[in-house]
Amino acid sequence: MTIDEVAMEETGSPRLGQENFEQTLTFFWHPVCTTEELAAAGDRPLRVTLLGRDVAVARLASGSVVALADRCVHRSARLSVGWVDGENVRCGYHGWAYGSNGRCTEIPSMPESPVPARACVPSYDVSEQYGLVWVRLDGRARTTVPAHPSYERLVAAPHSLKVLMGAPYTWPVAAPRRVENFVDLAHFAWVHDGTLGRRDEPVPPLPGIDRVDGEMRFAYDPPDMAVEETALFGHSEYRMPMPLTVSIEFWLESGAYRHLWMTASPVDMATCRAFWTVSRDDDLDGDDAEYMRFQQVVLDEDEPLVCNQVPREMILEPGFELSVRTDKVSIEYRRWLGQLVEACANGPAALHRAITANVARTTRLRVTGAA
Ligand code: FES
Ligand SMILES: [Fe+2]
Repeated sequence: MTIDEVAMEETGSPRLGQENFEQTLTFFWHPVCTTEELAAAGDRPLRVTLLGRDVAVARLASGSVVALADRCVHRSARLSVGWVDGENVRCGYHGWAYGSNGRCTEIPSMPESPVPARACVPSYDVSEQYGLVWVRLDGRARTTVPAHPSYERLVAAPHSLKVLMGAPYTWPVAAPRRVENFVDLAHFAWVHDGTLGRRDEPVPPLPGIDRVDGEMRFAYDPPDMAVEETALFGHSEYRMPMPLTVSIEFWLESGAYRHLWMTASPVDMATCRAFWTVSRDDDLDGDDAEYMRFQQVVLDEDEPLVCNQVPREMILEPGFELSVRTDKVSIEYRRWLGQLVEACANGPAALHRAITANVARTTRLRVTGAA
């Protein structure tokens, strides 16, 4: 039995539909904007969309950030066209004020009357990390914000490396398809021929894959080829904090350390907004724009393919797409996604167990060398 047949057998379930997949993603942290974007909004809440829900994100006077459903309970005006007023977000239509927990604190037209208990809007968990604002729609599965190895290095040793924030981009494709593309070892030879791969070396290695601390992990060594100095290229250690983040640490032949980190925020089940950073511990005085330019070359190579996958959604049902042995990483990724969706059907505690259970699959699935 091939690996893909094993995967299909294990994930075969009628519960893997888009509705359950979306529900599962509500339990995880997703970035919705950069802190810079939030600052640029001034005293207006910033309107973002996460999993199809419109959310108003605002920094209150105290500095804390709130995320409220972007719909006033009174006459449904968007709170994102209101403004921040001290520790409240004030609706622009009739001036109702909402605190950080979503409860209405004031109805200006009725100053003498108590605020009705039903006068509240959903408020969501917020965290600021790595220059990004993260939102979690449902906190019951006790998930955590994905790790960012080079940012952690930067905090520990402030001048030891540079972490550059890329410009976020929105692609008309599901977030897990965006993530899967990052770890698709067979596409380098075709999409990135001459940039990151070689058309005349189309057979990728089949890495051993581990599950550690809610992450999939594997290593990859690229083919022998000359690349640009600004390329992120060399022995690569991949970490995939489930469900939608990829971290790749590169050790160049020169000894330099570089890092590419991306998390795909699910705007909806067919659209994602990618937030990403590029880090390096060499050439610290070099021109950052050159490093970003190389990443743009890679993005421009990926976009026409990744954004022309049909349907735009990631379909987890078995047999919808045909996997082969060299899709090992994406088979394993989809397997875990499927298991998370399955677990979520049994409630947040089961989902928590499914994300934290560490299963070293290396022994059973390790296949060394080429296919
Ligand atoms: S619609 Fe928001 S206060 Fe009336
Ligand atoms: Fe690519």
